[in-house]
Amino acid sequence: QTIYLKDYTPFGYVIDSVQLTFKLHPTETRVLSKIAFRPNPEATDRTFFLHGEELKLISATIDGKEVSPSVTDEGLTVDAPDAPFTWEAEVEISPSTNTALEGLYMSNGMYCTQCEAEGFRKITYYPDRPDVMATFDVRIEGSEKVLLSNGNPGASGEGFAEWSDPWKKPAYLFALVAGDLINHPDSFTTRTGTDVELNIWVRPGDEDKCAFGMQALKDSMKWDEDVYGREYDLDIFNIVAVDDFNMGAMENKGLNIFNSSCVLASQATSTDADFERIEAIIAHEYFHNWTGNRITCRDWFQLCLKEGLTVFRDAQFTSDMRSEPVKRIDDVIALRARQFPEDQGPLSHPVRPEEFQEINNFYTATVYEKGAEVIGMLKTLVGHDAYYKALDLYFERHDGDAATIEDWIQVFEDSTGRDLQQFKRWYSQSGTPKVSVKEEWDAENGIFTLHFSQSTAPTPGQDIKDPRVIPIALGLLAPGGKETHPTHVIELTHAEQSLTFDGLDARPVPSLLRGFSAPVILEQEIDNDRRAFLLANDTDPFNRWEAGGDLARDTLINMILKDAAPSPAYLHGLRRVVTDESLDPAYRGLMIQHPSETELAGTLSDMGEIPDPTKIHIASRALLAAKAETLSDILPALYADNQPTGAYKPDAEGSGKRDLANAAMSLMAKLGDLSHAKAQFASADNMTQQFEALAVLVREGQGAEAVKAFYDQWKEDRLVINKWFGLQISLAEPEDAAKVTEALTQHPDFDMKNPNRFRATLGALAGNHAGFHHESGAGYALLADWLIKLDPLNPQTTARMCTAFQTWKRYDAGRQALIKAQLERILATPNLSRDTNEMISRILG
Ligand code: ARG
Ligand code: ZN
Repeated sequence: QTIYLKDYTPFGYVIDSVQLTFKLHPTETRVLSKIAFRPNPEATDRTFFLHGEELKLISATIDGKEVSPSVTDEGLTVDAPDAPFTWEAEVEISPSTNTALEGLYMSNGMYCTQCEAEGFRKITYYPDRPDVMATFDVRIEGSEKVLLSNGNPGASGEGFAEWSDPWKKPAYLFALVAGDLINHPDSFTTRTGTDVELNIWVRPGDEDKCAFGMQALKDSMKWDEDVYGREYDLDIFNIVAVDDFNMGAMENKGLNIFNSSCVLASQATSTDADFERIEAIIAHEYFHNWTGNRITCRDWFQLCLKEGLTVFRDAQFTSDMRSEPVKRIDDVIALRARQFPEDQGPLSHPVRPEEFQEINNFYTATVYEKGAEVIGMLKTLVGHDAYYKALDLYFERHDGDAATIEDWIQVFEDSTGRDLQQFKRWYSQSGTPKVSVKEEWDAENGIFTLHFSQSTAPTPGQDIKDPRVIPIALGLLAPGGKETHPTHVIELTHAEQSLTFDGLDARPVPSLLRGFSAPVILEQEIDNDRRAFLLANDTDPFNRWEAGGDLARDTLINMILKDAAPSPAYLHGLRRVVTDESLDPAYRGLMIQHPSETELAGTLSDMGEIPDPTKIHIASRALLAAKAETLSDILPALYADNQPTGAYKPDAEGSGKRDLANAAMSLMAKLGDLSHAKAQFASADNMTQQFEALAVLVREGQGAEAVKAFYDQWKEDRLVINKWFGLQISLAEPEDAAKVTEALTQHPDFDMKNPNRFRATLGALAGNHAGFHHESGAGYALLADWLIKLDPLNPQTTARMCTAFQTWKRYDAGRQALIKAQLERILATPNLSRDTNEMISRILG
């Protein structure tokens, strides 16, 4: 059934305290709860309904007297007094058979929890909604060496430990961990002098992979004090690494739980990209302590209140720790790859959705990444100082609250005096706006005019779109290349709007949407000469990169649609950027890449063309070869000069150099010279170089031996083996991809119950554009087979992977028919989960 934002009502009772006792057992864990309720003065409905799923109710009392609740699959209802009372219950649960990885479950013999969004109801009966907040006292009884929960530690002894969390929190922030774990300890002194004990807890054998995460945690704690004035608020902060986890990580109060792939890092086993990602996720979860935990969400429709803001904050952190332009470019690549297709397809939904069936299906790129873009636009519009002043007011006014987007907007209106009601459309309107720009040049009077228009195509459930507030950062360059008008921001608020510059000597070249100041599609009258000019002269690093990307896109489109040769303008521009020593290596590394095959399919579809995955793949490979030819004389030096010297460091400088050197290695391989890749594979002392060398060998069809050697070297390391699974599938030739995937699902190390391994295998197939969309339909059928198998075990991961099909209407009738048949086959599966049912129904439309 569907839940609507407009139906929100507060719960009939408030909670004064929660006491929980866990008697741990793999199949018969007992959970005792003692909860002090009193009538909520803000509510009229006194129905006493407690959520509860898959629980065996042993006993229930109110004020000590046994009661007999009426119990359904979703919870229980019982007559409760219209006065304060104590609820006590005992339930039994079975963590070891919990394959959905929601609630209390077991991973490699260790107990752990995942309660966001609605997992706590699988632990005990409770009003499992974020606006019900309480302090928790927890007692854990178990034989494991380490017993952890939220807050500060209390009494502990042989076989038990007690924890109490003084901060009121919703149940989704509850966590418990029990296992024979080892800690990597450290400490942090807050700016007011409190010493905080820090720990990263891991399984024995992983203790050498904690140092980087710990440093990232300390950097995050310092950064949030320096930039947002936010201090940590408990005596201890624990992080635990867990192998079986549906998502990246979880911000439980004082006890963050991480997918081990998002916290464990070492030079030998992690790539530079892994290090950067781990640093960002540690920061993200830590920053939730204020944006999410101290101020939480009234209901799940408000998810972007904490997620959009926290993604924005972690992006700010990464830009400060590393390179601002490189981070911005990486984020825009990801936004276009994941959020744009979502926003323009059958799963399109507003940043703040207004209805859902299963909230787990709304942890999306739109809520997270577009949600963060919305915060970025707000900051651009009000300015740096006003933004931080508004945030201070937000923390002051709403600390301890379960808040809404209305509260958030109100804070900005009150602190800046601006009317933000039109801006609020970014939260309610789905779809990616298109901004078209036409130029007018009055040579006689030296007047240059930009005519803007904005529109958004209809999306499911929203036929009519109103104009939004769109901040456009722009500058002007003189024809000689000098910037005459530095960046300033204009605000589009109407469907059509013009902007005039006068007193100009010559027709300027505008540089529009600098820094990607709004998540829109920009349509401008621009040819390749203009793009080459911006690539050479723009002062905005984002737009320089964008101009290079546009040239690459244009040449690829011509190669695909007209069998054209790669454009010399693009290749010459590329050569100039790659040899420009004033640019940092990471930036040059980014410039060498061209748009992915998936992105090209989207571009073609935007143009009204039907993308042909095979042609796209061939063109992409051909452009790679053309780049190699163009740069052939400089590649050996590019490779040699960018070998970082000294000890390996996963910082911006070291990873930038490795990235550029690896790009050179890859291009030399394209020219037939595999010597560098072979040597690098054999001698690398870090995963970045070893893995890239392996990838190049596999791509060139020379990888069989290296693939075997890599497996033998790393077979004991499950995170590295995920990479090994993924690589073989990602780089399989289109006609082999399904076969290679199928064979790997038969490998003894394949384990469908482990979400990382499942994603590394079936997710990699979905990511191999030409392979997944091979005209045989074998890719579609194989993915559908496995989704049907996984759904009864793990609905959340199954539903998420259904997004592989969301772009199906882009393709030709033959492929559409093949996909539709698979979608219908999944939908017809008996007992399909609510999660998967909702996703497939929406995708089918
Ligand atoms: N709040 C977590 C984060 O963004 C994500 C948890 C999502 N869990 C889920 N079951 N949908 O950091
Ligand atoms: Zn988050």
